[in-house]
Amino acid sequence: MAPSFEPANAALSKRLLDQHDVVIDAFGGKLLLFPFDQSASDLKVLESGCADGHWLQHLSTLTPSLPSATYVGTDINDSFFPKSHPQNFTFTKHNVADRWPSSEHAKYDIVHQRLSLPGAAPHAPLRTAVKNLFDLVKPGGWIQLVEAEQLGPNSGPVFEQFLDLVKLVFDTTGAGWKYAQEMKGWLEEAGAVDVQEVSVDMAFGAAHTDAVLAEKGATCTAGAIAGLVMHAKMMGLKTGLSDEELDSMADRLLVELREKGANYPLRAAWGRKKEKA
Ligand SMILES: C[S@@+](CC[C@H](N)C(=O)[O-])C[C@H]1O[C@@H](n2cnc3c(N)ncnc32)[C@H](O)[C@@H]1O
Repeated sequence: MAPSFEPANAALSKRLLDQHDVVIDAFGGKLLLFPFDQSASDLKVLESGCADGHWLQHLSTLTPSLPSATYVGTDINDSFFPKSHPQNFTFTKHNVADRWPSSEHAKYDIVHQRLSLPGAAPHAPLRTAVKNLFDLVKPGGWIQLVEAEQLGPNSGPVFEQFLDLVKLVFDTTGAGWKYAQEMKGWLEEAGAVDVQEVSVDMAFGAAHTDAVLAEKGATCTAGAIAGLVMHAKMMGLKTGLSDEELDSMADRLLVELREKGANYPLRAAWGRKKEKA
């Protein structure tokens, strides 16, 4: 029997999967926003910033007619990679700030990256990371990027503190917090054609109409705060918040999201590599 997925860190995988469910719901259940041939027998898909590979795994379940499809996950942190996985999956440590080896260029039908782009800074400008990803797309293939707008319409005071902290971190690393708005231009600069973008609302906690997704959104967002706070402290940032406020942010945010909720728009941009003339 083919080996199944076994996560390296079950708690992390649960949080990422909960987040995935809320993100995908915001995009109307779609993993990919461009048309692609699900019946192709030799599809090659690469996801950068794949963590435990849950997005690739989900995609593979949408295409049961594709036993020979190849799924490649890359991430700067290889401790997230699954302990076991089917043979048509490969996981490789890679920093999106670095160019992939030329043997990987123009090899993939689909290249995807989600909620990972600012991690390229300060190693490289984010436009360089987008170019590195676009190098991988084969002529006629597609690339899709998905990132948070870092806005919080209708949010409460704790969510505002969270957003201020995120913006401070990304402005300090050099990513700049408005990167989601730049993705379309960076894809065009890299040479993509038929480039499109969309911004969708993502609702957390009480702002979501579905009770299960409401709770998943609240817990996965609050669960991400510890890492953000640790990062901000390690960077020695002047956050304007006391240590007590930083250390209690996760708990305070969970309460606020369950009671009031928040909206956290996401932007997707996608484009195609022109076929050779
Ligand atoms: C917020 S998680 C998102 C995981 C997954 N893409 C998703 O949407 O559920 C960010 C992921 O990006 C990875 N990452 C951060 N900076 C990166 C970089 N420079 N190159 C590759 N991966 C990176 C992290 O290790 C982490 O797995």
